[in-house]
Amino acid sequence: MSAVIEIKDYTWRYLYSPNPALENINLTVHQGEFIGIIGPNGSGKTTLAYSLNGLIPGQYHGIKQGGIKVLGKDVESYPTGALQKSVGVVFSDPEAQFTTMTVEDELVFGMENLGMSIPEIRERLEWVVELTDLSPLMLKPPYEISGGQKQRVALAAVLAMRPPIMVLDEPTSMLDPISRRRIFEVLAKLKREQRNTIIVIEHSLENLVPLADRMVLLHNSHLLLEGETRQFFEQMDLLLEKGLFPPGIMQFFHYLKQQGRYDGYLPVTVAEAAEKLTSLLEPAQEGKQ
Ligand SMILES: Nc1ncnc2c1ncn2[C@@H]1O[C@H](COP(=O)(O)OP(=O)(O)OP(=O)(O)O)[C@@H](O)[C@H]1O
Ligand SMILES: [Mg+2]
Repeated sequence: MSAVIEIKDYTWRYLYSPNPALENINLTVHQGEFIGIIGPNGSGKTTLAYSLNGLIPGQYHGIKQGGIKVLGKDVESYPTGALQKSVGVVFSDPEAQFTTMTVEDELVFGMENLGMSIPEIRERLEWVVELTDLSPLMLKPPYEISGGQKQRVALAAVLAMRPPIMVLDEPTSMLDPISRRRIFEVLAKLKREQRNTIIVIEHSLENLVPLADRMVLLHNSHLLLEGETRQFFEQMDLLLEKGLFPPGIMQFFHYLKQQGRYDGYLPVTVAEAAEKLTSLLEPAQEGKQ
């Protein structure tokens, strides 16, 4: 697998800020990986997203050490606007991203900028509107729709462009549980069918964890823990100590493990948990017969 993002000894301090927002970060992301990034408020997650699509150092002033390569090229060596074609970012404050007068234009705008043909744009538009349930909103101005709807538009606009790398910064923070699940279903579909590299920053782990190949914990500007998802959650005590809340089923099995009643990886989905629980209970039931 080829590396699509290489972060090496990367430190960033916003100008006038006494401490770095990210300090000595090292992380390599490979093509097609699905990475979950978690960490408490202020730990540096959004700063990392800014650093991946060139908003840092492009739009923000500060002091940088080390470097970030995207698709083999240093982030700073991309001409203005070029990096955004490779790295599509959806931010948690979608309003800041809107530039047009209707939802439809918002979705088409990015594709036009990529120089796609009209039939291609039409086909992609149909696909993304269906995926994100946006058809009733197409003619509305983006500033007249609800927060959750805005988030769906911002995500759809990036999905429509199918950038090779997508970074989603809390993409579902304003969504109701059904819309949230739908977005994660869309991401699961993308993961299965496309070769996109997807990085999702999320506080709510229930939906994220089953999809993630690898997890990263940022804490106080540092990369505190990183690893393949199941191995990552083996460090449950550290995660709980740092104020992170792994999915309930994982905590439940961690508890069983502490009691000496379970040995093995912590299940990441309800179905997997049910299976493990059944096999834990079976010998006991056999004993009763
Ligand atoms: N524009 C800025 N200028 C100066 N400092 C900033 C700026 N943006 C963020 N910071 C600081 O950088 C640190 C990291 O912030 P960042 O927004 O990356 O955290 P985060 O992990 O995304 O938090 P949250 O979960 O609240 O979104 C914080 O200490 C924050 O106060
Ligand atoms: Mg943030």
